[in-house]
Amino acid sequence: NKVVLAYSGGLDTSVIVPWLRENYGCDVVCFTADVGQGIKELEGLEKKAKASGASQLVVKDLKEEFVRDFIYPCLRAGAIYERKYLLGTSMARPVIAKAMVDVANEVGADAVSHGCTGKGNDQVRFELTFFALNPKLNVVAPWREWDITGREDAIEYAKKHNVPVPVTKRSIYSRDRNLWHLSHEGDILEDPTNEPTKDMYMLTVDPEDAPNNPEYVEIGIESGLPVSCNGRRLSPASLLDVLNEIGGRHGIGRVDMVENRLVGMKSRGVYETPGGTILFAAVQELESLTIDRESMQVKDSLALKYAELVYAGRWFDPLRESMDAFMEKITKTTTGSVILKLYKGSVTVASRKSPYSLYRKDISSFENSLIYDQADAAGFIRLYGLPTRVRSMLKQGI
Ligand code: ARG
Ligand code: SIN
Repeated sequence: NKVVLAYSGGLDTSVIVPWLRENYGCDVVCFTADVGQGIKELEGLEKKAKASGASQLVVKDLKEEFVRDFIYPCLRAGAIYERKYLLGTSMARPVIAKAMVDVANEVGADAVSHGCTGKGNDQVRFELTFFALNPKLNVVAPWREWDITGREDAIEYAKKHNVPVPVTKRSIYSRDRNLWHLSHEGDILEDPTNEPTKDMYMLTVDPEDAPNNPEYVEIGIESGLPVSCNGRRLSPASLLDVLNEIGGRHGIGRVDMVENRLVGMKSRGVYETPGGTILFAAVQELESLTIDRESMQVKDSLALKYAELVYAGRWFDPLRESMDAFMEKITKTTTGSVILKLYKGSVTVASRKSPYSLYRKDISSFENSLIYDQADAAGFIRLYGLPTRVRSMLKQGI
């Protein structure tokens, strides 16, 4: 039997390889997804995986698929978890797990394994995706089984099994990075009264140190999805790359929050989402021109549920897919462009325009127009306010 392991090359996943062989007697195929986490040298990674005892390493570049099929739908839906979190880690898990299921089919594996702890959200996201796409696969989660409890244990286990201990300098934080975001958890952040230190951040400069001059950036949008930056059409992954760079130098997209994990506990996390924050601002701004009042209310209420499902790992639920069909339809005319001004951590809007704009200056203007007669408002208010008048009459005994 054979198992496909989600492999990063770090200490934890390096130790999982011999552990799986020892405890399950299986052939281990390592799998690494490129979702924009900045994999340094792939050649070194293959050597490392084999040195740990893997029979092979499979690497897949998922960057375009990740942005196009996972990030963009969430952006179009306006999905934000608990008021702040742009779901960077949550969206990456289903695309990685889906690729693992494909790899398991390709190499004829009957099991999959991951290095998530038993206390987090990620284990749920991986495993619900495995269930949804291939319910026959066995799932092995070493962190929920073994008695390795800390870094020292892991190093000892590695040495005993002749696995080279990764030399990469380990950070005190637990981090997760991809094209959309970088998350920081653990260490001093575990006390919610501690302000993050300046040197923790990696994608964004401190807003205080950002340029003293603002920068304008124009985002082109078609049917709710971004397509260009400053007039240049770019693929989803390239567009995000460019915007991360621009947003990063202006200190855009830092979030510090305490969130409710799916497993019930609260946890404190800090996120950097520079490009994503710019894209959210652009898409939402354009919707203010193209989406009517009631549609926007329904869209926003569904966005809450959408975010909750994505956070909880239920990407492949028919409910999320059906809501996506709604989002696609309701944003059909969200086409146009938005110019944003970036300045020391803030994103403000400078301009928005759309060929499908519902805004009409001739109607909104303070000048009287032919379509809108101010005298009509008197009758409207009398009927609209009828229940208010009736309640008031009752109270006053009229
Ligand atoms: N709390 C965030 C989430 O649940 C980030 C998790 C980061 N994951 C990690 N393996 N470091 O989506
Ligand atoms: C983990 O526990 O594996 C990371 C944190 C999380 O999944 O929420």
